[in-house]
Amino acid sequence: MKIEPLTGVIGARITGIDLQNVDESAAKELRENICRHQVVVIPDQSLSPKEQTEFSHQLGPYSPVPFVQPIPNHPEVIKIVKKASEVNAFNFGGVWHSDFSFLETPPAFTILHSIDVPVTGGDTVWTSNSAAYEALDSESKSKFESVTCVHSASASYSPKQQNLHSALTGMDIRTSTEAEKTQEHPLVCTHPETGIKSLFFNGTYVRGLRGPEISSSEDEEHLMLWLHNWTTHVRFTFRHRWANGDVVIWDNRSTQHVAINDYAGQRRELNRTTVAGEIPSLY
Ligand code: SIN
Repeated sequence: MKIEPLTGVIGARITGIDLQNVDESAAKELRENICRHQVVVIPDQSLSPKEQTEFSHQLGPYSPVPFVQPIPNHPEVIKIVKKASEVNAFNFGGVWHSDFSFLETPPAFTILHSIDVPVTGGDTVWTSNSAAYEALDSESKSKFESVTCVHSASASYSPKQQNLHSALTGMDIRTSTEAEKTQEHPLVCTHPETGIKSLFFNGTYVRGLRGPEISSSEDEEHLMLWLHNWTTHVRFTFRHRWANGDVVIWDNRSTQHVAINDYAGQRRELNRTTVAGEIPSLY
């Protein structure tokens, strides 16, 4: 395995590995590198949905996917697809988020395999929530340890968003009142494998904040906006230009990502699997 960092902060390219043939020691090395670099790009792969599922299991068990229906015969694979004709449709994943952070146990890793991507546009951008934490002054680091984030899928998957999702006719996304449920996680979380702290924040699923210094809705809104702007600052980011056959794996425990909707008139299709994580915690 050859590992080349892609920025000084986040992202690495890994070559010299065939994901159809990964043994236990290669899976361990890969896992360590995903945790260390937060996003890894592995070009020139060719995984059927069955092979992608098998490869996912080498990184860990399946993490349940709410709201998005899997592809036929492959219950752990979802297809992210926007057709060329869906010019005015929104992008699945088109706002900054960490996958399913509103769950009690959000996924550790997401694996995205490009099948048919635009010639131009359709990039994905990731930001490092650990770099954003590390760049804080010590007073903010300590103050944020007493903040709790209230996560919910309400802004994304409640029934009033059904028309938005139905515009993506190649995907089967079923909104539900279940999306109104809330789940609290600490703002500062420690990565269970690296021991590195992150701001476990994303502006899509964090719908509220609790803490001793948050006494009004103005305080709450102000801090949420500040956290969004801080964590997604360009200096913490890495942007990937997709080619067919890429496999990109990221660590949801220390990153956020966004899919850029700038490829009107072109098809974009990728297969996605997710790997189980742990309940996020400060210690
Ligand atoms: C996602 O949020 O999983 C989608 C990312 C992408 O399509 O680039």
